[in-house]
Amino acid sequence: MRLFCNLKSGIKPFSDVPTLKSRPLLGHAYLFLPKWMGGKYNIEKFTEAIEDLSKSLGTIFKLRLGGIDMLITLDVEHAKTMYRNEGKYPIRPPFHALIKYRKEIFGSVGVVPGNGTEWHKFRSSVNPMLKPDLVHHYQPQLHTIAQKFVKYVEHKIKTNHELDNVYDDSLLYAIQAISVISPGHEFDCLLLPTTIDSKEIIAASMDFMDGLHSTLIGLPLWKVFKTEGYKKLESSHNTMKLILGKYVQFHYQEYTSNKNKLKEEQPFIYELFANEKLSYQDCLLVVIETFLGGIDATATTISFTMWFLAQDAALQNKVKNDQTNELLKACVKETLRLKTTAGANSRFLPHDVDIGGYSVPKNTLVMSFVSAMGKREEYFKEPLKYIPERWLRKNKGDIHPYASLPFGHGARMCPGRRIAESEIVILLRHVLDNFHLSSPKIDNGGGDIGMVFRMNRIPETKIPIQFSKHGIPMNTK
Ligand code: HEM
Repeated sequence: MRLFCNLKSGIKPFSDVPTLKSRPLLGHAYLFLPKWMGGKYNIEKFTEAIEDLSKSLGTIFKLRLGGIDMLITLDVEHAKTMYRNEGKYPIRPPFHALIKYRKEIFGSVGVVPGNGTEWHKFRSSVNPMLKPDLVHHYQPQLHTIAQKFVKYVEHKIKTNHELDNVYDDSLLYAIQAISVISPGHEFDCLLLPTTIDSKEIIAASMDFMDGLHSTLIGLPLWKVFKTEGYKKLESSHNTMKLILGKYVQFHYQEYTSNKNKLKEEQPFIYELFANEKLSYQDCLLVVIETFLGGIDATATTISFTMWFLAQDAALQNKVKNDQTNELLKACVKETLRLKTTAGANSRFLPHDVDIGGYSVPKNTLVMSFVSAMGKREEYFKEPLKYIPERWLRKNKGDIHPYASLPFGHGARMCPGRRIAESEIVILLRHVLDNFHLSSPKIDNGGGDIGMVFRMNRIPETKIPIQFSKHGIPMNTK
């Protein structure tokens, strides 16, 4: 009956979705083998591979990787259909190594790798982060940390006007900023010289991202023995448990003795303890997840925005002079469109759905390739140009609401979105109020800085920025 209806409505079977020849066992993984083994693409440049494949296969196609059929789309209407059919408990591809480790140590897996009812339980604990009042509460502390970043830059540029990789400096800010919210204790990462606690925290944050990435790609050897990647996951969690655990325990004592005080001072931590679905161990896990959840994405967005502004002195001056921050917020959106930190927003569909004229069976992994979609000229005029003005209230009516979703969408949208946006805008405001940014010539051929996949997409090379104190801009256009 369904086949008949589909024939009538012109819906084609899933087997008709464009693809390349696949190989037994490997599927399409042969495309991503090392060059010397005949591979065509670098797995770290998955977005660029998808863009290239779409030139011959079109905006919707499928690949078989890791034994899974992936339906890849670069079309906004397909993205909309995916989200509309994601179901009550949207399912994202899990991180198996992380799940194994967390189940052993915490007895549960948390928000990011969780699915089904377990995800739902944990998700209820991070949703308060999206409340404007909660974000507002932390803003004065974020301003203070941004001022510390300015002092940190002033100290560093005493010897040389340049920070040779502003991504690293932004990571320090991102760690210090999130620490006041979760675990509710400020880590002084921007102090020079760095303290021992901060050094350990910074190293553990980096190890977590490396560990997650290396257990995700390639053969799952961690199932057989503890690979370097798995060991990094383990050691980073141990450090986090130890250091963050100290403050979670301290706040728990406050919660039991004076709930109102904790509610006033640490609203996010208070919401965790007040959530009856969560055990103490669950609360600790959520603190670790929210602490680690957005450090790299926040730092990537900050450093690329500085870099774009450093390329264009006229735009930088406009942003400096707009104290409403509307243009600065538009810059952040434009950075997230061109330098999207997530490769794709992905969902396993809970039922059969027709997408782009194909009948897509239940349990298929649909990947809405947000990092490629935002660069299509069908959706953005002059798509490769950095034009933040397109996001201003008076212009943005022309943009399709699904064309750039860097924080995802729907029930699993990033819960840290508003916190991250605040962290980024507050820091950039302080930086622009204190410095003129310019950028040295980068010897990489095209003048652009690419991105590579780690846990998220991060800058491919160092991002050097010159900071001058109200001096004459070095590359005024
Ligand atoms: C510029 C910064 C950030 C970007 C671009 C970003 C992006 C994303 C994206 C694309 C997702 C997946 C959404 C989906 O599947 O629909 C996500 C999920 C998540 N993010 Fe962020 N994020 C950022 C910062 C943060 C911060 C600061 C935190 C913590 C406070 C955070 C915590 C999380 C968590 C816990 C999830 C999992 C949500 C779930 O599965 O229900 N993120 N983020």
